[in-house]
Amino acid sequence: MNLPKRLHLAHLPTPIQHLERLSKKHNKDIYLKRDDHTGIEFSGNKVRKLEFAVQEALDQQAEVLITCGGLQSNHARATAAVARRLGLDCHLVLRGTPELPDHGNLLLDLLMDVNITYMEPEDFNEHHMEMMRALKAEYEASGKVAYLLPMGASNAIGSFGYMAAYEEILLQEINMETNFDTIVCAVGSGGTHAGLVLGNLIHGNKHRVIGIPIADDSTVFKPIVHSLVEECLHRISPETEIPGDALEFLDGYAGRGYALNTPEELEFIHQLATSEGVILDPVYTGKSFRGLMTEIEKGTLSDSEKILFIHTGGLYGLFPKASEFDL
Ligand SMILES: Cc1ncc(COP(=O)(O)O)c(C=O)c1O
Repeated sequence: MNLPKRLHLAHLPTPIQHLERLSKKHNKDIYLKRDDHTGIEFSGNKVRKLEFAVQEALDQQAEVLITCGGLQSNHARATAAVARRLGLDCHLVLRGTPELPDHGNLLLDLLMDVNITYMEPEDFNEHHMEMMRALKAEYEASGKVAYLLPMGASNAIGSFGYMAAYEEILLQEINMETNFDTIVCAVGSGGTHAGLVLGNLIHGNKHRVIGIPIADDSTVFKPIVHSLVEECLHRISPETEIPGDALEFLDGYAGRGYALNTPEELEFIHQLATSEGVILDPVYTGKSFRGLMTEIEKGTLSDSEKILFIHTGGLYGLFPKASEFDL
């Protein structure tokens, strides 16, 4: 299957780690795919999507990458780092005003000296696309080609990054002489889940692929992920259909909403760090991995024996949360 052209920026393949104590506790084999190790500056899942999306930008002779996200957006930071790595300009539209610019991802955005437009949260929610389009028009009026990436790089081209990750997992299964029955990831804007589902469909449905929303729930994300998978299939395999059961979600783990935490979520992160030396992030992997462990305890995944959770990164999001932890 020919995927679209891509850049090679991430450190791949990322390792797969067996979690010894957690596996023993739950009487299952629980593994992490360490996509938090894709690189320091553009660590996490975003770089896999950017390898495809930014290739498209370069094919269009873009000199500026424009994207958006929250103040602590991993995607915005990763886009800034990829732009700088390639000698491009970058303009971020961020939701909020910088109260503590010395924290987390925002500090890294500032270190890379990219252009930032801050928008008040409500204004951002309603008008961030308009703002990005206006910026693109401004750059183009001054003679610079600009390329617009949506929130989380979760468009069809970005989703191919996780189809490629799925193919990486297939090779690792051969090398490890093992087969995972279930692959699980966080769902924030849907592209990671869509790419994994796409890979699974193209390669014969060998796995269950489950997404765990960290804000909202599957009623919001199912149509988004479905249309991303559909759009990707349209490009590479128009004859492949999406079976009704291809999109699986586990709801109930969004907690207080996007980027907000309950004490139980933070305590879960603390406990995993203590028991396995693995650091999850508070916005995505902490909530979704806690969801996975809760569902295992409830018996929901009784027919899954070897479960692979994608650690999609987000470590820098921990630092602005320091005062919320009970340490
Ligand atoms: C660390 C991390 N994990 C998971 C996600 C969710 O991935 P997606 O946006 O592809 O659903 C994101 C971004 O949204 C993220 O930054």
